[in-house]
Amino acid sequence: MPGACIIGLQWGDEAKGKLCDLLAPRHEIVVRYLGGANAGHTVVAGGETFKLHHIPSGILYPEVINVVTPGVVMHPGTMLEEIDELTSRGVAIGENLMLSDRMHVVLPWHIAEDRYFNESSIGGESLGTTLRGIGPCYRDKVGRTFAIRLGDMYRDDFAERIARITEAKQRMLAGMNGSAALDPTAIHAEYRAYAERLRPYVADTTNYLLDAVQADRRVLFEGAQGSLLDVDHGTYPFVTSSNASALGVGAGAGVPARWIGTIIGVAKAYGTRVGGGPFPTEQDNEVGQAIRVAGNEFGTTTGRPRRCGWFDAVLARYTCRLSGVDVVALMMLDVLSAVEEIQICVAYELDGRRIDWAPSHAEDLRRVQPIYETLPGWQVDITGIRRREDLPPAAQRYVERVSDLLERPIGVISVGPDRVQTMFDTEVLPVAAG
Ligand code: IMP
Repeated sequence: MPGACIIGLQWGDEAKGKLCDLLAPRHEIVVRYLGGANAGHTVVAGGETFKLHHIPSGILYPEVINVVTPGVVMHPGTMLEEIDELTSRGVAIGENLMLSDRMHVVLPWHIAEDRYFNESSIGGESLGTTLRGIGPCYRDKVGRTFAIRLGDMYRDDFAERIARITEAKQRMLAGMNGSAALDPTAIHAEYRAYAERLRPYVADTTNYLLDAVQADRRVLFEGAQGSLLDVDHGTYPFVTSSNASALGVGAGAGVPARWIGTIIGVAKAYGTRVGGGPFPTEQDNEVGQAIRVAGNEFGTTTGRPRRCGWFDAVLARYTCRLSGVDVVALMMLDVLSAVEEIQICVAYELDGRRIDWAPSHAEDLRRVQPIYETLPGWQVDITGIRRREDLPPAAQRYVERVSDLLERPIGVISVGPDRVQTMFDTEVLPVAAG
């Protein structure tokens, strides 16, 4: 297959946006197939920073078609803000953006429900969602009765549908938290206006993509979140509400999995997590703080400080296997220049037993003791290095060790946010050669 897919191997924020941006011009089509405004993809181009939530990173290249498919849950107001922001900064948006009419839409009650459920703790800890209504929107999608898809917003019964759902949601929300100020007329007017502005982009993306893959066009599938947030295979229940591993690509995009092409697993050289849930290698101390400062580890979408820690090779090997990763991209290696010695988790101890796999229950994962290997740090600035062989020997050793532990080649090393701060090994990642 000529295309590729970019998947996060950790809990999101692996700098996938940067890699998508680099690989987008080597593809004809870039596809976003899951999640919604919970994602924040940062792309630094020509010294300018772009923060994208729903729109694929290929939008910065005029010749690339950007497709948002049925697996995404879209907040139309946020989508329009993104379009407006890009347009105001000189990015042309027209036929290069396609939005599936099968995509589900986030409505005000989803955001209200997200707030309510997020406040309820699971085993003493709250989920810490992004409060973008993502989980409630997916819940309604699966429940069907209260769902609204983009295509529904153009039907004659849209006002009636809004009125019916608003009434039911009012009652449910009032029962849950006593407040439910939902005005169906105002919601309908707001969403009708969104629908009109979005009309030029609405399309049947499923048939478009099926034609594209059958014609061997180069398609890049741009993951969001990370495999450990996968609703079925991640650190449940501290996950997002979609299949954020590569297992979600086919279903979300509407393309058989065999058309996906090279699967690139993206990992940071250390670990981060936002929101609640177990994080065995978390360093809630000065090491974590040094990483947070050096890596500017604050959420793109919510601004929350990210929890920081060491690289967990047990979990990353699991997600490499789960997503069928062919090649790994190791991002933000430069951040580790900030620490003296580096630890890497190679196994866990649980109830006195050494294990090299992750327990399925969050409470067990919370109890594991990481078993670390210590590697020397390099403590020099590597952000100006452009060839792997010029990296300090300790950094090369670290990269090799990660590769051994994940049983995959490292095809990309990133040492800074800019496009030029990237080293590709095109032998293991030919797709990067163009
Ligand atoms: P939700 O997706 O907003 O429901 O949030 C569920 C969990 O996934 C929370 O812990 C969020 O912090 C996390 N999450 C969702 N999207 C992202 C992302 O793009 N990067 C990192 N974490 C995310």
